[in-house]
Amino acid sequence: MDGNGRWAKKRHLPRAMGHQRGAEAVRKLVRALPGSGLDVLTLYAFSSENWKRPEDEVDDLMALMKRFLKSDLKDLIANGIRLKIIGDYKALSPDLVEQLDQALAHTAQGRAGTLAVALNYGSQQEIARAAAAAAAEGAVTVEAIERHLDTADLPPLDLLIRTSGEIRLSNFLLWQAAYAEMWFTDVLWPDFTPAHLEDALASFAGRERRYGGR
Ligand code: FPP
Repeated sequence: MDGNGRWAKKRHLPRAMGHQRGAEAVRKLVRALPGSGLDVLTLYAFSSENWKRPEDEVDDLMALMKRFLKSDLKDLIANGIRLKIIGDYKALSPDLVEQLDQALAHTAQGRAGTLAVALNYGSQQEIARAAAAAAAEGAVTVEAIERHLDTADLPPLDLLIRTSGEIRLSNFLLWQAAYAEMWFTDVLWPDFTPAHLEDALASFAGRERRYGGR
């Protein structure tokens, strides 16, 4: 969800405002999730490298997560959305961890779609953890690593979208992206709407996926 800072800068607004508008874009997408044809929407909300940002920006992002959970949990439950967290979220502040655990428990029965949120997530760290767990079991195979990834209970990644004109993966779902289709757009995250998601899905529908075959 890249481009919140640039969205704010263009309008001479504080970065926090960009993140706030980014969270509103999230809300609209999540509301459009049932009926979008998607089973899972995974959002990269806070990377393990985002701790390098100034403390007040990190605090703003954590406060936004808390506000989102408070204001939208009822909506998630009502719409049958299951929340899932990937990443080492237990290292976040205890009050946020508690709120997340409650939200996970309250949405666990959701069957209309899954909203996966990556929090304190780094794909290299995830792969290293999964490989270590596989090694502890005795066999470091592709299948064993996949069983230990944070995404083990999710279907394979089909489409990876990055906003704001950046063309890189930035430690997001590196393993899972092995055969994913990619869609890059210059749209800044706060301007990203369900209509943009539909454009991405239309592009995806026209792709020929060969998985290395021919
Ligand atoms: C990257 O933009 C964005 C982030 C690091 C934070 C994304 C978080 C949200 C949209 C907040 C809410 C999330 C949920 C799930 C409620 P950037 O700051 O790097 O933008 P820039 O590259 O333009 O500076």
